[in-house]
This record gives sequence, structure tokens and C-alpha cells, in this order.
Amino acid sequence: MGKGQIKILGFAGSLRKQSNNKGLLQAALEVAPSNCILEIFDLKDIPLYNQDEEGTLPKSVALFKEKILKADAILIATPEYNYSMTGVLKNALDWGSRPYGTNAWNNKPVALMGASPALQGTSRAQYHLRQVFVTLNMHCLNQPELMIGTAQDKFDANGRLTDPKTRQKISELLAALIASIKL
Ligand code: FNR
Repeated sequence: MGKGQIKILGFAGSLRKQSNNKGLLQAALEVAPSNCILEIFDLKDIPLYNQDEEGTLPKSVALFKEKILKADAILIATPEYNYSMTGVLKNALDWGSRPYGTNAWNNKPVALMGASPALQGTSRAQYHLRQVFVTLNMHCLNQPELMIGTAQDKFDANGRLTDPKTRQKISELLAALIASIKL
């Protein structure tokens, strides 16, 4: 980390190109303060977890773990599938925690945001994630909670965030995440 530069690793639990949750991360990139380097990692190359492969991690997983370890904090944009986090996201969290004794998430500050067409705006997925963070020993910001409902009114057809209030909230979330980092 360069002097004064804060490194945040962001990823979304959706693989689709026009994902609203990827749109949230893009908006975070656009509002990130100049003392913060936000890197977005696409989970598309992370294979399904297989304990047989823990001895020699798949290349994409090794790279992902390296980026987690180098980050000062983590920013997750979570969709909600069937009242929980997506398999894509849980799979990535599982890989990052393995093999036993090499949990890359340990002690990382993390902030959550999520968008969905439903009114609850991923609240159920976010509360499941908070439970998972306990065993990963990640320190999740309590506030602000960023649950963006009726996403169809806040993103364009390309998944780009068009709602200025949500953009402002993302800026506040990033500021709170940065403030929580103990350098
Ligand atoms: C959904 N969706 C959804 N939304 C929600 O708020 N609660 C839910 O339980 C579910 N369940 C669900 C299951 C499955 C299998 C799919 C594919 C979708 C809708 C979901 O929020 C919507 O597709 C979002 O647009 C997904 O996020 P991205 O891909 O736009 O980031």
C-alpha cells in the first residue's frame, strides 16, 4: 500500500454482464475518494470449491486470495437469490477461507450493499452474510445499511446506477468503511 493510499477490494455476487450489483460497484468506483484505490474483481473465473484442489489452489483462486490479503478492506455487492446470498458469492467466500489455517478474510473490515427488484433490497441475503462473517472473522460495518429495493427504477438497461440518492449512499458507505480501517 502506498503512503496514504487505502486499498479496497470489491466484488459482486452476480456474474451477469448487466448486473445491478456490478452497477453498484461501478458507482463506488466513480465516487471513491482520491486516497482510496478500489479494485473490482470479477468472480467469473473462480471455479466451484473442491477440497481436493486445496493442495494447489486453482490459479484464479490463488490470485483472488492474494488480492484479499493485500486489501485493507472489502466491499461486497450482494444480490439476493431465494432469500439468501448467491452460490457464486458463498463459493468465493469459502475459497478465500481455505485451506484451514489460511483464512484470507481474517480481520478484514467489510462493507455490504445490495440491489434487487424487491422492496427489501437484499436484506435477507445481507443478514445471512453477516452470520457468515462471524466465522470468517470479518468485521462488517453495522451502519449504514445499503439495501436498494425496486432496482428496476434505479438502474438503466445496462445495469448502470442512475439514482443520485443511491450514489450518495454509496459514497457514505465507502467513507464509513475507510474510517473503520485501522492502518
Ligand atoms: C432472484 N431474485 C430475488 N430477488 C430478491 O429480492 N429476493 C429473492 O429471494 C430473489 N430470488 C431470486 C432467485 C433467483 C434464482 C434469481 C435468478 C433471482 C431477483 C434478483 O434480485 C434479480 O435477478 C437481481 O437483478 C439479481 O442481481 P443482479 O444480477 O442484477 O446483480
